[in-house]
Amino acid sequence: MRIQLSIEESLFLDALLSLELYPEKVETNEEIPITLDSIHKRGIELHKWKIKGNSGKLNLEDITELLIKKELLQRTENVYSLTAFGKIKAITIRGKRIGNRFNSEFLRIATSTAHSTFCKRVFGKDLSQANMMDMVQLDKLLQILNLSSKNKVLDLGCGLGKISEYISDVTNACVLGIDVANEAINLANKRTEEKRQRLNYKIGDLNNLAISSNSFDTIIAIATLHYSIDIDKTIKQLKAILTPQGQMGIFTFQYAFENDNPDILHPDNTRLAQVLKKNDLEFRTWDFTDNEIRIRQNQLKIANELKKQFQEEGNIDLCSDRIEECKIDLQRLLKGQKRRFLYHIQSS
Ligand SMILES: C[S@@+](CC[C@H](N)C(=O)[O-])C[C@H]1O[C@@H](n2cnc3c(N)ncnc32)[C@H](O)[C@@H]1O
Repeated sequence: MRIQLSIEESLFLDALLSLELYPEKVETNEEIPITLDSIHKRGIELHKWKIKGNSGKLNLEDITELLIKKELLQRTENVYSLTAFGKIKAITIRGKRIGNRFNSEFLRIATSTAHSTFCKRVFGKDLSQANMMDMVQLDKLLQILNLSSKNKVLDLGCGLGKISEYISDVTNACVLGIDVANEAINLANKRTEEKRQRLNYKIGDLNNLAISSNSFDTIIAIATLHYSIDIDKTIKQLKAILTPQGQMGIFTFQYAFENDNPDILHPDNTRLAQVLKKNDLEFRTWDFTDNEIRIRQNQLKIANELKKQFQEEGNIDLCSDRIEECKIDLQRLLKGQKRRFLYHIQSS
């Protein structure tokens, strides 16, 4: 069913989904019910509701009434929740928001000489990496997957698609990259026109995968599975997409914060590992935490050295972003709060 939503209604659904996904918890670990007050408090923080053409003084009561009429929202006493239909709509809105955020960065990365130099020096090759994929990690992935022209590979969350392209170039495998960042996908398709027989890109949301069962023998996901809003559902879908004896190569990370059991950092106990076991999927793991620490240290040094070049291009904020993300990550890695793993998963 097609349904028209105002910007405020869309923002509200998106904020409500975030509240359902990341419920605010008090010290006793009890979830705070989603009432108009709690939405007001966190909704405004979450998306800064002040958008073009909006004074920022949204009338939440009116919006909730409109969404209840459209059957996207339900209220029991004073507690709100998304209907099943509202959740589907909210997932689409969230996907577009995240895609747009990545679009704007990817479009600039695609034309930035400074960023290209940065990738070559930090990762060993410019594949417009939006994660920690250096050539050591990529070579390991390729060695494990052992691809050839007979393979059909799905790259989930491919961004500008240069990693998918590299994989297809060196193995001749048929690769489809999908991503919610529509403009990055358009660029990837334009860049690789002459490789169309073995390389394609499509706009797609990993939370709403429209891919037939048994259609790929290999799935890769590099720093993207954390965008799944229901990891168990996503893994079930990926398992169904795989042909018998198919494989997945997943690069992921696991955090452990104060309230988490530190065991979660063991590769057999991460959130992903728990879900894989639940779905009867066998896996092997490689720990790339030390490698990531070295990359991050190098990244910090090189981003600082390239500041002037980024500045001259008008891309100093790209450089500052790289430095900031690096500092935060390095702290977590060195404190032992984060680890990076490669999972090789085999389906029966
Ligand atoms: C950290 S980047 C990694 C990109 C690429 N795999 C790489 O390693 O350079 C995360 C990617 O996931 C994509 N993404 C985020 N949410 C997604 C979703 N729901 N479905 C598909 N792609 C998504 C982003 O647009 C972005 O391209």
